[in-house]
Amino acid sequence: MKSLLKFPFPLRLASLKSGLFWRTFFLLGALTTTSMTAWVGMISVVQHEPQVQQISAQVISVVTITHAALTHAAPELRRELLFDLVANEGIRVFTLEEDDQVAPPANNALMPDIEQLVRAKLGQDTRFSSKVNGVSGFWVSFKIDDDQYWLMLERERIRGLTGIQWLGWASVVSVVSLLGAAFISSLINLPLRRLTQATRDFAQGKRPAPLPERGPAEIMEANRSFNQMVTDLQQVESDRAVILAGISHDLRTPLARMQLELEMANLSTDAREGMQSDIGQMDAIIGQFLDYAKPTEASSFVNVDISELLTDTAHEAARLPDVRINTDIAPDAHAMGNATDIKRVINNLIENARRYGRTADADYTEIDIKCSVKGMHAAKRVTIEVQDHGVGVPPDQIEQLLKPFTRLDAARGQANGAGLGLAIVDRVITRHGAELNVRNREGGGLQIQIVMKAL
Ligand SMILES: Nc1ncnc2c1ncn2[C@@H]1O[C@H](COP(=O)(O)OP(=O)(O)O)[C@@H](O)[C@H]1O
Ligand SMILES: [Mg+2]
Repeated sequence: MKSLLKFPFPLRLASLKSGLFWRTFFLLGALTTTSMTAWVGMISVVQHEPQVQQISAQVISVVTITHAALTHAAPELRRELLFDLVANEGIRVFTLEEDDQVAPPANNALMPDIEQLVRAKLGQDTRFSSKVNGVSGFWVSFKIDDDQYWLMLERERIRGLTGIQWLGWASVVSVVSLLGAAFISSLINLPLRRLTQATRDFAQGKRPAPLPERGPAEIMEANRSFNQMVTDLQQVESDRAVILAGISHDLRTPLARMQLELEMANLSTDAREGMQSDIGQMDAIIGQFLDYAKPTEASSFVNVDISELLTDTAHEAARLPDVRINTDIAPDAHAMGNATDIKRVINNLIENARRYGRTADADYTEIDIKCSVKGMHAAKRVTIEVQDHGVGVPPDQIEQLLKPFTRLDAARGQANGAGLGLAIVDRVITRHGAELNVRNREGGGLQIQIVMKAL
């Protein structure tokens, strides 16, 4: 109970929408209802005989005693005796007339057996009724000498539980068991939801708070393993970042030195330019390593004006040689993110289009940059599209290209890439909780679509 109260309210509310919650709830509800019905059935079978016995004995003794009292009482005291019986015992005695309006006895499972037992004791001509002359009760006839009398017992004296009482108890039991069912299903459901939420957060690059390592053994074990996994993965991640950054940094120092030495060396212009371009490419590749190693922290996200960012990037790219940029950018598209990282993504895509997406039968690359905002409120999305008019990529290799260090055969000849560009794109986009779609454009060329949650 204690742990349940600690959960944040939205989490509990969310669990009401879950299929698992309702499935467990209905299963438990059906089980308790069935077992309750079975119990009631069983009890009434087992109770039948004792109840018949008890009620018959009661009726017999009341009639016998009344009979004895009436026969032995002095005639002048009979009236008083009858008064006493009504006042103290709820018993009334009337003379039985032939023209009495007699309703048949109550129609329940006990009555036939009771009649049989009572008749065996009081005589086969004993009559029973549930209502005589409009007065309801438990009516039984008896004889004093040749005169017939009715004896009326108030019904409450005989019956155990009334229908209303049964209904009351049944509803108390069902409410309690339904509450129990709800509690049990949330007990199972909540840890699962927490685990799912934490996994989702982790996948989006957030650092989930450690899951509580308490409660039932299975849940505790699952939470502990999850916490351990998160810690391990974070360790691996930060180790890798440190190693990559270290190597890249240490490589850049000698490269800078080589660059200097090259300027001063006595070389032909061709050789110098060739080496300078090589060094430039190596430097760019190291830059990509650093980008790839750099973590994107969801905690550093701010409101980014995507429209402005795309317009700026497109302007810069338009200055590159052999590039024509077409833009179709909706104004005022905003999303939470890291502007530098998003810009890096777009630049990577433009660079790829420039390198691998040259427009067929032309000596330039045509790149379309689009941005649109669709949907309302929570479903509002910013869609960014970068596409070229080149040859595209074989569809079965698209998935593969997002992995680090993968390049198509045709690209291998070019030294100026390590196959990290799209891996960086994929990583940054995932960390932004956005969706990346890579596909071949109809009519040739590669189309990259990024769908972000809009503000
Ligand atoms: N616009 C494009 N058109 C055709 N092929 C592309 C395009 N963009 C990327 N590719 C292919 O995907 C591969 C991986 O790209 P990327 O991850 O950026 O690595 P790199 O640019 O370093 O080769 C490229 O080598 C190229 O073969
Ligand atoms: Mg690239």
